[in-house]
Amino acid sequence: MDPLERFREPLVRHLASLVPEEGVLRLLLGYPLGAVEADGRPGPGPGGKLLRPTLVLFACEALGGEAERALPLAAAVELVHTFSLVHDDIVDQDRVRRGRPAAWVALGESQALHAGDGLLALAFGTAAGAKLPGRAVAWAVEALASATLAMVEGQALDLEFEGRQVGTEAYLRMARGKTGALLGCALALGAIAAGREDLAPAHRRVGVTLGLAFQIRDDWLGLWGDPAVLGKSVGGDLARGKRTYPVAWALDRDPTLGSLLRTAPLDEVGRRLVGLGAREATEEAAAALLAQVREEAAGLPWAPWAHAAFGELCEGLAVRVR
Ligand code: IPE
Ligand code: IPE
Ligand code: MG
Ligand code: MG
Repeated sequence: MDPLERFREPLVRHLASLVPEEGVLRLLLGYPLGAVEADGRPGPGPGGKLLRPTLVLFACEALGGEAERALPLAAAVELVHTFSLVHDDIVDQDRVRRGRPAAWVALGESQALHAGDGLLALAFGTAAGAKLPGRAVAWAVEALASATLAMVEGQALDLEFEGRQVGTEAYLRMARGKTGALLGCALALGAIAAGREDLAPAHRRVGVTLGLAFQIRDDWLGLWGDPAVLGKSVGGDLARGKRTYPVAWALDRDPTLGSLLRTAPLDEVGRRLVGLGAREATEEAAAALLAQVREEAAGLPWAPWAHAAFGELCEGLAVRVR
């Protein structure tokens, strides 16, 4: 079995245990986590890949720690991520998430805002309740808070950049926040849970770079992916004037593209991006960042099995289809 796959079952169980048992919060927090449907019936379970919490447990074990003790921190990072998706789908007006109606579509926009608020509070409460020695819990809560702030900053830049002349340098600054911060935090939390807070900064750096590669692949999928496999819609980024990696890359090459992006039909814009080489450039950028991730990770004092498993994870992320 994939060494990372075995974390899924305990994570699913732990996340399910955090959903309130009754009342309106059961619906609001339980719907985005896949625990319940909008009509109150049992849900399908978490539809996401659980990448961030898996990274927490993985880093903890890779450093010789007990993954079980890191479960609350892992759940906390997934709760912050889920909160960000609930609000992100409102901002991006995306109607499908994890193969189901987005929370704002199922619950209404106002209740989806409340759902996100609640998930964020649950995240910090869960992290604070971790049973770890010394100052580890305080360090973990602080790491989660600063990553959440960086994520919000990245999301704000993502919105500000819509329709603007934005190249890859600004793009990378935005993506480092919106996606890099939480992936970096995930690996750092694993180090903290293993009692190696001294290694948290090095783990964070690896995770941030991993997050950049992950977001660039996400942008690729948003244009050229299969919505049925992806569990979310495709093409919306272009329609909203998002400065995704392929668009930012193309704007660097051809600044006159801005007017085409505003006026031309979307299929023509898509063809132009491919014609300019933006599709290959996006694949190359993700591959180069993943190579950098593996190089940086090689310097971490992980068990040999962990280096091998992490290499496989990186290979999988380069070609992921969901
Ligand atoms: C989606 O993240 C949002 C991005 C940061 C690209 P994931 O692709 O990890 O989403 P889930 O959790 O698997 O649904
Ligand atoms: C991903 O946002 C980052 C966060 C949600 C913080 P995107 O808008 O790029 O991701 P998708 O494509 O909706 O999942
Ligand atoms: Mg979005
Ligand atoms: Mg977004």
